[in-house]
Amino acid sequence: MNYKKYFSDELTSLKSQGLYRKFREINRDKKHFPKATERFEGNERAVEVWCSNDYLNLSQHPEVIKKSVEVIQELGTGSGGTRNISGTSSYHADLEKELADLHNKEASLIFPSAYTANQSTLWTLCKKLEGIEVFSDELNHASMIQGIKNANVPCHIFRHNDVDHLRKLLNTSNASVPKLIVLESLYSMEGLRSPLKQIVSLAKEFNALTYLDEVHSVGLYGFEGRGIAEEQNVSDEIDIINGTLSKAFGQMGGYIAASSDIIDFVRSFAPGFIFTSSANPSIAAASIKAIEIAKKSENLRGDIRKNSDLIRNGLRDLEIPHLDNDSHIIPIHLEDPKLCKEAANLLIEEHGIYIQPVFYPTVPKGDERFRVTITPKHQATDIQGFLSSLDQVWNKLSLRRERLSETVNKQVTKIY
Ligand SMILES: Cc1ncc(COP(=O)(O)O)c(C=O)c1O
Repeated sequence: MNYKKYFSDELTSLKSQGLYRKFREINRDKKHFPKATERFEGNERAVEVWCSNDYLNLSQHPEVIKKSVEVIQELGTGSGGTRNISGTSSYHADLEKELADLHNKEASLIFPSAYTANQSTLWTLCKKLEGIEVFSDELNHASMIQGIKNANVPCHIFRHNDVDHLRKLLNTSNASVPKLIVLESLYSMEGLRSPLKQIVSLAKEFNALTYLDEVHSVGLYGFEGRGIAEEQNVSDEIDIINGTLSKAFGQMGGYIAASSDIIDFVRSFAPGFIFTSSANPSIAAASIKAIEIAKKSENLRGDIRKNSDLIRNGLRDLEIPHLDNDSHIIPIHLEDPKLCKEAANLLIEEHGIYIQPVFYPTVPKGDERFRVTITPKHQATDIQGFLSSLDQVWNKLSLRRERLSETVNKQVTKIY
């Protein structure tokens, strides 16, 4: 085989489809977020960030930074090993207690990322529970899909948030086999909640385990930011909750929270947990601090709600197609990878607005979009500027304007 030609042809084909990813170098200013500096081609320019997952801006919170630096000064930087071989500090143990408490579970387990937590936990459950059948929402994140796929077990994909379809699929499987329902509480590209109560009740009826990814909701929803399972009062009925330390808590890493036995089981059998070095102790300590702050930050959550309403109202007035959901994630639909990139380039080059175009494989082909994420640090004047810039770019490229499409409305109506 001509390897050189193979790799080069694959990349050329990706580029010709408009699907090639370029990373922008964005240095966020600790004191002035969402203002940041982009370095490109040896120059620098001022930009404003509209697509960060640092939802509460806790990565730049003075107390969190202070804690992180203190622990680096005290223990050094790296953890020194896997959790089993000298890599467990008291900060790791304390963080696991904090996370278990956050989700009202007996125990928790931290991983290098929520991606590994999902992939490794699901792979381990699927491999160990003999005869298992998985029921997975069609919009589940790549990390969950990889975990299930790699285990090579039967997997039924149910239509997004469609409880009737899930029931139909559950009915097809043998009552005696172990079952696992896998879903997210707030879908990352849609900002839509899942019908948790109904799914939990189906899980009970069919004696299925439930695995819930709360990556985009921890810190932001529910009492003290404990997530959407808490908000909908079903936390106790979800068997395994997955979350991240790298979004609302502004650090790095992921975790699962569950009963002591499930956590001990995953701790003992999951290769993605066992055979990798643990997080730096400073990250664990900063995460504890960030969670403490997030719990007390109802005002920040209120600002996010206020800001996202302002954006949605503006988009509606400008007739820019978007999904009218009820969250901090606001998808703006462009539905063409090249146009999506062109609009993003114009926004940054002519208006200093940084929003990353989202395309396949992050979303299906034809579903290309901007995924606006709002933080409490975005001011009303920033929002006005953002909307006006979008308006100008929409005019310049003659992009589609329309009131919300029926499908979008239907989808939202169905869920809330
Ligand atoms: C739904 C979902 N789950 C898991 C992850 C992985 O999270 P992490 O960045 O902590 O690996 C992501 C990443 O964006 C996500 O969107």
